[in-house]
Amino acid sequence: MSSSRIEISKVLAAPAIGEQVYLKGWVRAFRSNRFIALNDGSTFDNIQVVVDFEQLPEDLLAKVSFHACVAVKGKLVESQGKGQSVEVIAEELEILGTNNPEEYKLQPKRQTMEFLREQAQFRMRTNTFSAVFRIRHGLAYAVHKYYHDRGFYYMHTPIITGSDAEGAGEMFHVSTLDPANTPKDDQGKVDYSQDFFGKATNLTVSGQLQAEIGALALGKVYTFGPTFRAENSNTSRHLAEFWMIEPEMAFFDINDDMDLAEDFTKYLITYILENYPKDLEFLDKRIQDLEKQMKSELRRPMGLIDTLKFVVENDFERITYTEAINILLSSKPHKKGKFKFPIEWGSDLQSEHERWLVEKKFKKPVIVRDYPKDIKAFYMRQNDDGKTVAAMDVLFPGIGELIGGSQREERLDKLTKRMEEMDIPEEELSWYLDLRKFGGAPHSGFGLGFERMVLFLTGMGNIRDVIPFPRTPGNAEY
Ligand code: 4AD
Ligand code: MG
Repeated sequence: MSSSRIEISKVLAAPAIGEQVYLKGWVRAFRSNRFIALNDGSTFDNIQVVVDFEQLPEDLLAKVSFHACVAVKGKLVESQGKGQSVEVIAEELEILGTNNPEEYKLQPKRQTMEFLREQAQFRMRTNTFSAVFRIRHGLAYAVHKYYHDRGFYYMHTPIITGSDAEGAGEMFHVSTLDPANTPKDDQGKVDYSQDFFGKATNLTVSGQLQAEIGALALGKVYTFGPTFRAENSNTSRHLAEFWMIEPEMAFFDINDDMDLAEDFTKYLITYILENYPKDLEFLDKRIQDLEKQMKSELRRPMGLIDTLKFVVENDFERITYTEAINILLSSKPHKKGKFKFPIEWGSDLQSEHERWLVEKKFKKPVIVRDYPKDIKAFYMRQNDDGKTVAAMDVLFPGIGELIGGSQREERLDKLTKRMEEMDIPEEELSWYLDLRKFGGAPHSGFGLGFERMVLFLTGMGNIRDVIPFPRTPGNAEY
């Protein structure tokens, strides 16, 4: 076959009826030995290819099986059948990649997400995963567009670093020392001065501290890169390797920071609503089909697209941590002892509390601010009450925490005192303290978990299904 191949998205966007087309793609279905649903990934839609028995040999047709790769040449015509407006009458067919249905693990029927996770080399060929990963792409593009259009600079922060920005100690070490034979110092501890970088290093948990350098020079910057956390939480919301977007802005206070977080998330949702309607419609219907089998109280209150629109159209609720605790203390599930974790001023809100606030109490995204300083990182700006810091978390329906951010402590004396209280040696972060000593400024920022946003936009139930190759405790396949 010669002449040039055209993508299915282009054929369907402007069908040239009566013209020859040359398509390549994967067989999504082969009905009645006559109708091939062909998909090449360029759009959610398949194109129907009608096979002409007279022209195509039987042994060739025998090779047209589920997810085989084929090339088709034929005439584009208006479709006689229901479900599609145009179809291709195949005159030539070539098998580019055969598929042995007996050995191939995927089947043309609904399969569990757990099973498909083990078939990550194939799962992108399914309707669900191709929709998810097209949306994931669109979201990444929208992130860059949002910040570029508003005068932010994209900043690349290091992946290998010596600092633990969040102070949570959940780091993966990076070392070239022989683990069976590490050099030791006088005290018998591993001597990292002999390691590759001459000191102990780890994969970054956040690009924030370095982004602050950018903000205090370029004004507004953002990072968008992989981050790594060795937290042993096997939940549907945690990955050991995930992507984070971290804007950091000079002269922004905590209120400006919350305004940006709300505007940013609404923009991202609007962008996907406008640009990926077919993928969203499919995912919406998928959830409704799944929920038909569930008890009514487990079903989501609204469909996917309606939820997305609702979030865009309504103001986020904004409350303080102290208000959140009081609301939770007087809540029904608390009084009835339904919450697993205790509610008391000073402890962190657990996911069950966050989701109750968002899904039951306010029924929309909630921004909680002014958390107790003892449950937050060292860099957050201390409030005048001496007990809380200018932190803010954005909580989303079905997700819980989507964003964590704060105004940063710009006052040198307060920052060094807090570091001392938290046993963070000044020498390790002298460059960070320099930003307070020389030309410092009030500034703020936040981090948005990219996969949690994809989870919200696609309505998928598990974060492992919105990243191509999930890394979780006990799993680093592919
Ligand atoms: O709240 P976190 O830990 O905040 C920071 O890292 C700050 N340095 C951000 C900043 O102010 N620049 O993480 C930010 C977000 C969370 O709200 C969550 O959405 C996501 O990152 N996140 C995870 N996503 C998937 N898997 C994990 N293990 C995650 N840990 C955090
Ligand atoms: Mg957080």
